[in-house]
Amino acid sequence: MAKTPSHQKIKTYVREVYARLATSGTANVSHAPIARGEDLAHALGYDTSGLSISKKAWDLFAGCGNPLQEIKLEPHWTVIDLGCGVGIDSQVAALSLQPPGRVIGIDITVALLRQAKEYASAHPGCHWMGGDAEQLPLRPGYVDLVIANGSFNLMPQKGQALAEIWRILRPGGYLALADLIVVGEMEPITEGFEDAWSWCVAGALSAGEYDVLLKSKGFSWWELKEKGNYGPLAAAHLLARKGGKN
Ligand SMILES: C[S@@+](CC[C@H](N)C(=O)[O-])C[C@H]1O[C@@H](n2cnc3c(N)ncnc32)[C@H](O)[C@@H]1O
Repeated sequence: MAKTPSHQKIKTYVREVYARLATSGTANVSHAPIARGEDLAHALGYDTSGLSISKKAWDLFAGCGNPLQEIKLEPHWTVIDLGCGVGIDSQVAALSLQPPGRVIGIDITVALLRQAKEYASAHPGCHWMGGDAEQLPLRPGYVDLVIANGSFNLMPQKGQALAEIWRILRPGGYLALADLIVVGEMEPITEGFEDAWSWCVAGALSAGEYDVLLKSKGFSWWELKEKGNYGPLAAAHLLARKGGKN
């Protein structure tokens, strides 16, 4: 059986795949292009018609859901878009904010952040930062909402990432996450680990695993909604609050 790659190897490979997406507009994993683009956004429930977001930015959208559907933003909030990619959710969130409210998009793939910066010039409430979700360059209690669309599954040390999210959230702050979850029997992955990680598949958790992980990091209230089924995997939205239900 193939050996599971190290955390560092997974991150390097994920970064390479998403840098290819940024520079060539597409990236193949397991010989199939990564799901992306405006049609994907429509399928996930984004109404793209009223949004002033460029077509080039939509082309690089690679989310698994629509995490902002789950929560009403307050205009003064500080929002972190973790694994923001080209920053579609950052731009959508910025439309609901007013100074001092702002969004900071954080990603480990610098090439995608460059694109985010270029395409978001019409959204002055958006800021960008290179960084790893497992070691966030932010002070404790600073953030009202963390969103993560299709990025949590790519993080090999999920406990560490969730501890960082907990640390930066203010009491009463929210985590809105969209990703694939395991709902059935998964074939064991014996080869192509790196591709399976980049597809959000190898790093997917079950609802039970989310329960254990969230509890262990201090979250006492959350809800998980399935949004679509793909065999042993389902797209899901998770909303969690630091400090119990509102
Ligand atoms: C499937 S893409 C989704 C991008 C974006 N959220 C969207 O909806 O288009 C996943 C993103 O997560 C980023 N990512 C993966 N691991 C990360 C980590 N440890 N810290 C920060 N970003 C990460 C990748 O670079 C990539 O841009």
